[in-house]
Amino acid sequence: MKKNSIIAIDGPAGSGKSTVAKEVAKKLGFLYIDTGAMYRALTLKAINKGVDFSDAGALIELSKNTDIELKESGDYLKVYLDKKDVSHKIRSMEVTTKVKLLASLKDIRENMAKLQRKLGSGSSGAVLEGRDIGTVVFPDAAYKFYLDASFEKRVERRFLELKEKGFSVSPEEIEADVRSRDVSDMTRKVAPLKKAEDAKVIDTTDMTIEEVTGKILGTVKK
Ligand code: DC
Repeated sequence: MKKNSIIAIDGPAGSGKSTVAKEVAKKLGFLYIDTGAMYRALTLKAINKGVDFSDAGALIELSKNTDIELKESGDYLKVYLDKKDVSHKIRSMEVTTKVKLLASLKDIRENMAKLQRKLGSGSSGAVLEGRDIGTVVFPDAAYKFYLDASFEKRVERRFLELKEKGFSVSPEEIEADVRSRDVSDMTRKVAPLKKAEDAKVIDTTDMTIEEVTGKILGTVKK
């Protein structure tokens, strides 16, 4: 494997991307880029500023004047919005349900993709996880993976993850959110979630984090 390789990991909510991508990056000494966190940070700013989510022009304008940074801190990835740490706030249900309204806008996606390419290309090797990394952001990535899991398992994972982070949510709320994000992520006109033709599919339903990480490392180290 070349030192400055790009590893793309895409898949729907709850497929296990974040945990696995973070682990893979750590094992390889690569930069970890959580692209969903970037869309979430912008969504948080729009909520805080009271921007009307049906006003595409206002959302696009906001994205042009927003500074988003990702900084690794031990086992955690810290997300900074205009220099303020928003790592916890971006995981709220309000952000989670509204992010799709902004992630479907072409200009916003182009700005995000530009920033993601800059971060990835400027690193000495990066693992990027999201929905459109292997298809749009880095179509020439050295390695592409598409993680998936059964709907029930994905809902269960999202529920446990939010509970662990201290958010009070019901399983029904999570189920409705995952269902609606699946539809919106997969059917939006710009950069919809889909498997890149040359991506390796991993069904993580019955796999542990270690197993999925091992499978990816086994492929990239060959
Ligand atoms: O991975 P996540 O659940 O934190 O992502 C939050 C939302 O951001 C997701 O529902 C869709 C959007 N997203 C996107 O459209 N493209 C990406 N590359 C990453 C996330």
